[in-house]
Amino acid sequence: MQIIFRQAKAGECVVTAEAGDNLMHVALANDIAGIPGDCGGQCACGTCHVYINADWVERIGSVMPGSTEEAMIFGAPVDARPNSRLACQISLTPMCDGLIVEIPEEQ
Ligand code: FES
Repeated sequence: MQIIFRQAKAGECVVTAEAGDNLMHVALANDIAGIPGDCGGQCACGTCHVYINADWVERIGSVMPGSTEEAMIFGAPVDARPNSRLACQISLTPMCDGLIVEIPEEQ
């Protein structure tokens, strides 16, 4: 499947991923700028904050209220939005083919 990462400064990057892959690891494996993933995917750093494209929010799902992910998103210096997610908390499924992920300018 293809995943599309967009960042204002770096532009658009289309990468290949497999069902079951973790979105943050896909970004790291493809040297996507703007997703450092400092904690390695433990939901403990918030540096994999992304915005799910509006057309994909329903399919990917919103952050669970009261979850650690929500706390990390709203505790980070990055602007939190209704479509904010942590990439390390998203496991790709076959229905994610064509997913568009927007990356904050800085984190
Ligand atoms: S990589 Fe640290 S919270 Fe996602």
